Amino acid sequence: MHTNMDLHFSQVAREYRAIRTTDSEPIDYIVSKLNGQKKLIGADVGCGAGRYSLMLCQALGKRFSLYCCDRSPEMLRELEKHMGSNGIHKFTAINSSSEKIPLDNDTLGALFTFNAIHHFSIIEFFQECSRLLVGDGQLFVYTRLKEQNSRNIWGKYFPGFLKKETRLYQQGEIEKGLSEVSSLVLNSVTKFHYQRSVSLDRLVHIVKRRHYSTFSLYNDTELADALSQFEKNIRSEFSDTKNVYWEDENIMYHISNRK
Ligand SMILES: C[S@@+](CC[C@H](N)C(=O)[O-])C[C@H]1O[C@@H](n2cnc3c(N)ncnc32)[C@H](O)[C@@H]1O
Repeated sequence: MHTNMDLHFSQVAREYRAIRTTDSEPIDYIVSKLNGQKKLIGADVGCGAGRYSLMLCQALGKRFSLYCCDRSPEMLRELEKHMGSNGIHKFTAINSSSEKIPLDNDTLGALFTFNAIHHFSIIEFFQECSRLLVGDGQLFVYTRLKEQNSRNIWGKYFPGFLKKETRLYQQGEIEKGLSEVSSLVLNSVTKFHYQRSVSLDRLVHIVKRRHYSTFSLYNDTELADALSQFEKNIRSEFSDTKNVYWEDENIMYHISNRK
């Protein structure tokens, strides 16, 4: 069954990487935790157009191979082009949901998910991770929490943004989901802070291209009205609209599978 969100991701797939900001810090963090493993098979679940899949493969090198799983065939098509044009071939794209991944038990040393867990059925996803990961396999969940969302440029200045975005998890909810799957043990929680600065023109552009799926929850009229008010809010808050600045925040959960 296809949802409105599936439709949204199919529509943004072609320009997805161009309208999102990609950070290297979560990859550096993961590499530091996986350091020393001779050979590693991983999966990036909800991989989208592959911006983090590519960085993982580049950073982990020849010893690493990756399954890239996503519900959206359009996203996977973009991923395949992106990986191929960057010379990365040790990957397999799998069109599947996060809750039922067509791989055998105990096949993965590491599982990753970036900016996607709020789209999944969390307990079923964690159960699937427990099934797929070998004993002592590692799971990395990178996301932004509801509280972090409320402090960014959209949460502060974009009308209706926080009311529309009901899917993100709050502090404690991911831990609660994990507690339902006994083999998964939380090792650490790390927060990431990014100083951003772009022009108002760029902000307007990425809203129109619906870079966050939250914007696809507005109908066309609602979005046009909210965008016009957002522009007014930004103009009254920032004297230089070529330099609109704020802090983005994300969080990483590092989890082990203790079978
Ligand atoms: C916000 S995008 C993030 C993509 C990528 N991880 C990134 O950071 O660029 C979320 C992705 O999750 C996928 N997705 C949503 N629900 C899913 C599910 N239940 N199972 C698998 N993929 C899903 C969407 O198709 C989309 O490509």
